[in-house]
Amino acid sequence: MKINDLLTIKEIKKLGKDKSDENIKILLKYFNQEISIELKREIVSSIGRQINNDMIYSFLRENAFKNHPMEVVYQMYRTCLYKEKIDERFKKLGVEIKDFYKNENIYKMYKYYQYKQLRIKRNVNKEKINRPTILIGDTEKTLTNLPEESIQMIFTSPPYYNAREYSDYHSYNEYLLKIKNVFKACSRVLEDGRFMIVNISPVITKRPGREFESIRYPIHYDYHKILEEAGFYFIDEIIWIKPEPSVPNRIGGYMQTRKPLSYKPNCITESLMVYRKNCDFLLDKNINDYGDDYDKFEEDEIDTTNCWYISPRSDKNHPAVFPEELCRRVLKYYSYEKDVIMDPFAGSGTLGKVAKEMGRIPVMCEINEKYIDLIKNEEKNYYDYISE
Ligand SMILES: C[S@@+](CC[C@H](N)C(=O)[O-])C[C@H]1O[C@@H](n2cnc3c(N)ncnc32)[C@H](O)[C@@H]1O
Repeated sequence: MKINDLLTIKEIKKLGKDKSDENIKILLKYFNQEISIELKREIVSSIGRQINNDMIYSFLRENAFKNHPMEVVYQMYRTCLYKEKIDERFKKLGVEIKDFYKNENIYKMYKYYQYKQLRIKRNVNKEKINRPTILIGDTEKTLTNLPEESIQMIFTSPPYYNAREYSDYHSYNEYLLKIKNVFKACSRVLEDGRFMIVNISPVITKRPGREFESIRYPIHYDYHKILEEAGFYFIDEIIWIKPEPSVPNRIGGYMQTRKPLSYKPNCITESLMVYRKNCDFLLDKNINDYGDDYDKFEEDEIDTTNCWYISPRSDKNHPAVFPEELCRRVLKYYSYEKDVIMDPFAGSGTLGKVAKEMGRIPVMCEINEKYIDLIKNEEKNYYDYISE
């Protein structure tokens, strides 16, 4: 019978708990057998729990660079982190492992460990925003008026390149650069570890003549990169699904001819890209700031999947408004009452309206005077104004 059939996680854990050189030797013997990654990882963990640091160190030194699966390497690195306080050799080995693998998980473990060990204090004396506010002008500039980490959630739908009358960028690259700069400004004002949700979908721009092809831009693919560069990391993609009759008809041609290659399905989805601002602590820390006294929306239905079925809304004054229901769900799942929430491309200010109804403090940013007037008329005396 192979050792793999006999050995269990429970047994390995027991060998780690009882401290003896004899147990380390047994664990080492097991480690060198052909066993599953899961068992190997558990063995490294149990070896790390032992007290003979010479034996532990020589095991790690011998194995850390030997092409073991990364899950096993992570466990070795973890042992180095937890042993470095008591033995300088583990600290040096940890640095070597970090430099050798250049692996994002190892970097994250390192930063998280530093944060815990050094008991780095989160900035709790942050300047607060207490009033609903409209920032008038280019968001990249107006956001310099806000204190760092003064916003608890961002939800926005940026211009879809040149798909609407309110934007006219010289090129797609210029557009992406502008959006990236606004996202960077957003990252500065968003509290560490909080969420930025971006609603976007592919667009097509008008073709310059019948003899030319139009270009279709998969904007959300490019957004992932610029969100990362702006200081966020990916959490989820929520798919907003609309009723088919509400979207432009693209399938008509194919329906008539049935010619392969001419297939163009009706696009009934948009993306909600859910990202979290980089930080070195777990989400629990953000959640624990609120204690237990918060609105649990007990009566509400909960969206248990990442597909949300919501009808779009049209508005005679703005060509691309959020449905209020979309804002409501985002606010419910990604913010608490009294949080300051922001839309850096506010348009007609739908998010602000729903945020007010849900007891949040809105900060709306908009460049176009026409749309600012819309918000002003709708919400008389509610907002304070700051201009560029
Ligand atoms: C897709 S619309 C947002 C609509 C909004 N979600 C609503 O419900 O009304 C994007 C908005 O961003 C604004 N905008 C574009 N570039 C901007 C910039 N640099 N700073 C501030 N606002 C900008 C446009 O004027 C437009 O109203």
